[in-house]
Amino acid sequence: MRNLVLCFLIFVTSLTILAHGDKDHDDDDVESIDVSAVSVPEHPTYHEHVRPIIEANCAACHSDGQIAGYAPLTSADDVVWAAQDIKFHVVSGLMPPWMPSRANLPLKNDRSLSDEEIAIIAAWADAGTALGDPHDYAPSATDGFDFVEIRADLVLQLEEAYAPVDDALDDYRCFAFPLDLESSQFITGYEFIPDVAEMAHHGIVYLLDAELQTEIDALSYSDGRPGWSCYGGVGLSGSGDMIATWTPGAFAVQFPEGTGYLIESGQIVVLQIHYNLWSTRQPDRTHVNLQLAGADAGLKELWTIPLNAPVEIPCPSGIEGPQCERENAIKRIAELYGEELSELPDKRLRRCRQTLDDYAGNTGENARTFCDYPSPFAEPLTVYGVLGHMHELGRSFRMELNPGGDNSLLLLDIPRWDFHWQDRYQFIEPVQIAFGSTLRMSCTWDNSLSDDPRYVVWGEGTSDEMCFGTVLALKP
Ligand code: HEC
Repeated sequence: MRNLVLCFLIFVTSLTILAHGDKDHDDDDVESIDVSAVSVPEHPTYHEHVRPIIEANCAACHSDGQIAGYAPLTSADDVVWAAQDIKFHVVSGLMPPWMPSRANLPLKNDRSLSDEEIAIIAAWADAGTALGDPHDYAPSATDGFDFVEIRADLVLQLEEAYAPVDDALDDYRCFAFPLDLESSQFITGYEFIPDVAEMAHHGIVYLLDAELQTEIDALSYSDGRPGWSCYGGVGLSGSGDMIATWTPGAFAVQFPEGTGYLIESGQIVVLQIHYNLWSTRQPDRTHVNLQLAGADAGLKELWTIPLNAPVEIPCPSGIEGPQCERENAIKRIAELYGEELSELPDKRLRRCRQTLDDYAGNTGENARTFCDYPSPFAEPLTVYGVLGHMHELGRSFRMELNPGGDNSLLLLDIPRWDFHWQDRYQFIEPVQIAFGSTLRMSCTWDNSLSDDPRYVVWGEGTSDEMCFGTVLALKP
């Protein structure tokens, strides 16, 4: 078949958010896909050109029983019917959901499409959606999900369904699972399976020492229901290690080859689930499958390092009143979540060696904070992956090694934050963090997105904010 070159000009600008006035976020952050030089076939057909792209990049979510099963893309009919909608979603960068920028260090399971793939879909949709010959179909050689299958060696499931509280929109609940392991084991992978997907906002699995069992026994069922209420962690005197996290859209996770989290026999696993109850309120029996390996398997031990930057977000312009005072924001946190959590906004500033003066330039529309973490480890730290977390006012998230230096690396760069697509990212090649390197985590927010604008500080509710991240490393 004769392939002539068609030229396309697709500027994707409508969805990009310019980080105005922010010197660390210049125009490089704006993802504009210019495919003017991309060659596409003159007569693109479904079977030969479009189907391989859709099957490798879309069908895993857009098929029965999957997260986007209501909009299936598994047959020629489905795809032809939705052609213009598909074109809009891929050209605008909305689909497939993949938030890191192209400047990011290469990541596993990168779902983004190449400029050429986008141009093929656009050309096919505009040229009348020809089907072509099914014999011309060949699966994509370059794309595809790296779906991992996890053995369910150990299943953590609530014995009794938990019915979320009925007087709040957010419910954070912790459930403990004594593991009764005969010997130490490594966790080498996990899969989080929400029972009621519409209300599962996030899940975190913590590994705790056996001595916390007494505290757990005192708290469990203290309000007559399974588990206990917990904010900002497990709500116990020890915080443990965060070994697994889940956010909507995340799939099973396999830890890097040859590594795992070591669980000593007697240790306790606690599952924290954040239920967001805007759309539904139903009894829940979410479960988590863990894949195990024996302690004699010779694996190296993993470690999750939590990072926190301050949150200081003034009211948007035009909004005034007591709700715009920082002092009142802190009082509100104390009333909602207790004194201890209300001390966090000031603690975070001190931890990052900052004062409020550092954020005097923040406005409601463009608030930015950051925290620098110098590496204290004498030997290089091997890092496999990262996670970033903010809530709904978030605009951009960045984790950068040695910012401004010749050896700087963008570990996570999310120029257009989307609360609904938060992933735990793994690098294709592990990163070595040398002694004295600095890891900077920074966040920006736009308070004009709020339905209830007020001064926003660090807090656990979805209408509070966070600038939180984790680094998955080998234990030094
Ligand atoms: C990781 C899962 C996932 C992948 C991969 C994915 N989608 Fe989606 N898609 C969704 C979800 C979920 C929605 C619903 C809107 C939302 O939550 O953003 C959606 C919505 C859409 C819509 C709008 C349909 C509607 O009725 O709302 C289109 C069109 C679409 N996706 C096309 C695609 C195409 C084309 C691809 C591949 C190039 C793709 N998606 C890949 C999850 C996915």
